[in-house]
Amino acid sequence: MELKVNGQRMQLPEHASDPAMPLLWALRDGLHLTGSKFGCGVAACGACTVHVDGQAARACVTPLGAVQGKAITTIEALGTAEHPHALQIAWLAEQVPQCGYCQSGMLMAAAALLARNPKPSDADIDAAMTNLCRCGTYPRVRRAIRQAAALGARR
Ligand code: FES
Ligand code: FES
Repeated sequence: MELKVNGQRMQLPEHASDPAMPLLWALRDGLHLTGSKFGCGVAACGACTVHVDGQAARACVTPLGAVQGKAITTIEALGTAEHPHALQIAWLAEQVPQCGYCQSGMLMAAAALLARNPKPSDADIDAAMTNLCRCGTYPRVRRAIRQAAALGARR
């Protein structure tokens, strides 16, 4: 089975090609893209958030069969050291992460939000950011999203 991930067509190995397999398993175990994390496995925490055709999706409950031919973007392609996403600049400036486990999902959810709403209000941010963080980084996440919006997120 083939997947379109981060702008490339990638061949999944046999053990990660069952259409019923969660996308998160295929990304992590099949393609070794381990930036997306496993937290709850039931769409509750958002640690596994990726983009599917530009929309935030919880990869732990998204079957491979549902994303055939769709464009999947993971945290590995959000930005680079040379060309960071505005959110990554803001995340660093606000020193958002603590343990870091939830943060790739937070960033992908925030990137999807800014792509559809470049100037979100606090209420918009709270409505979109349903990801959980056991370290309680929520106030810094919100500040960083507002800062990225001011910088002009490019995705
Ligand atoms: S691991 Fe997917 S939502 Fe928690
Ligand atoms: S930074 Fe630790 S869970 Fe969010």
